[in-house]
Amino acid sequence: MLRFDFSSCMSDAIGWEHGVTSEDVASIQPRIASAHGELQKWRASKDAIFMDYPFEAGLAARLRKPAALIQNNFDNLVVLGIGGSALGLRSLAQALLPPYANLLERKKRNNAPRLFVCDNIDPDYFGSLLEVVDAKDTCFQVISKSGNTTETMSQFFVVLPILKARLGRKWKDHLYVITDPEVGPLRKFAAEEDIQSFEVPRKLGGRYSALSAVGLLPAACVGIDIEGVIDGAREMVRTCSGTVLDSNPAYKNSAVALLMDEKKGKTISVMMPYADRLALFADWYAQLTGESLGKIGLGITPVKALGSTDQHSQIQLYMEGPNDKVITFIGVEKFQKTVSVTNVMESFEHLKGHDLGGILQALQKASTQALTSNRRPNITITVPAVTPQAIGELFMFYEIGTAFLGALLRINPFDQPGVELGKKLTKKILQENR
Ligand code: PA5
Repeated sequence: MLRFDFSSCMSDAIGWEHGVTSEDVASIQPRIASAHGELQKWRASKDAIFMDYPFEAGLAARLRKPAALIQNNFDNLVVLGIGGSALGLRSLAQALLPPYANLLERKKRNNAPRLFVCDNIDPDYFGSLLEVVDAKDTCFQVISKSGNTTETMSQFFVVLPILKARLGRKWKDHLYVITDPEVGPLRKFAAEEDIQSFEVPRKLGGRYSALSAVGLLPAACVGIDIEGVIDGAREMVRTCSGTVLDSNPAYKNSAVALLMDEKKGKTISVMMPYADRLALFADWYAQLTGESLGKIGLGITPVKALGSTDQHSQIQLYMEGPNDKVITFIGVEKFQKTVSVTNVMESFEHLKGHDLGGILQALQKASTQALTSNRRPNITITVPAVTPQAIGELFMFYEIGTAFLGALLRINPFDQPGVELGKKLTKKILQENR
């Protein structure tokens, strides 16, 4: 189970000017109750289906058989998608696959294909990927809820003729589509061409879809324990069911964010994991927060950082720059490897006998202590070990917290009207420049 420490956001640790007081918490109790009611309504209308979907019977079982087939038959798995259709998978893979998995021989990487997630259409990278993977050994999964996204469909239109040219009549065996159950060009294509396909539930938006076929099918194909991830998510839903803040960490996190925003002028939320396995989780968090809550002139600005790397770039700002941020540290208690520091030079005696994990933890502890002593609010989440369960818990913790903060702010956390204009203009520019 994850552990949460909010004490360095409270006034007794960092003073009333920057810290949350018990009066502050009392003042928002009616809003907590009404936001809880709103979230329950969203669950009933399926807008918040992300909370109930992990309980769906047979969720993992439906994916297991096709995943095993793909795992056994291909050397490469290339995922075409962007934003919410890519970031959940990227963070799952970084957290749960062996580091440098693609460089390992097959049996050392879960006896699974290499994974490439194309979260952009930069031609230098996409073009180069198509040069290093042979379509003959590759499974392509096109993931787009809408089936309408410029970047994903561009990738797809590049890949399709390659598949047909290289594989002839067998091209369909190498292609999977994950999209809306009924509407959209990709669904139509899959139906007309009889392409193997999976559904993203109707109301499950991209950034909340990591724990559906969007994240879980490719994750299962590369040998990730998706049952464990789902178990962790379920556990977090159970934990975060009541309105008492001290026993509902997701609500508490949102309540602190709300008070910091409205009463203390802290509108920036930095996520700083002290583990490379969780670096991309901060990217996923930034998307979830940015797209869900940045509306009607409100919102929290997410910033991603990595400990201890960014102690050498950003911490100076967090210590002495504007006091307008809440920093969330995510620490790992037990790393998978022990790498010991044994022989040291004279002035480095303090490192002797430690392992790198212990040194990283000391760096994290020192950062929290330094920030707290400088009255800079910070939260610590402790992950006992980066397991499938812990990752499932983390995803669900932030999804619930984000939806709840949306309810507190009276923002719809499930739409993204602000991205439409850019999409329309892109189309216009491309039409004009043909
Ligand atoms: O969270 C979201 O809704 C977005 O980030 C989408 O995931 C992203 O725009 C990609 O959309 P789609 O899955 O429809 O291709």
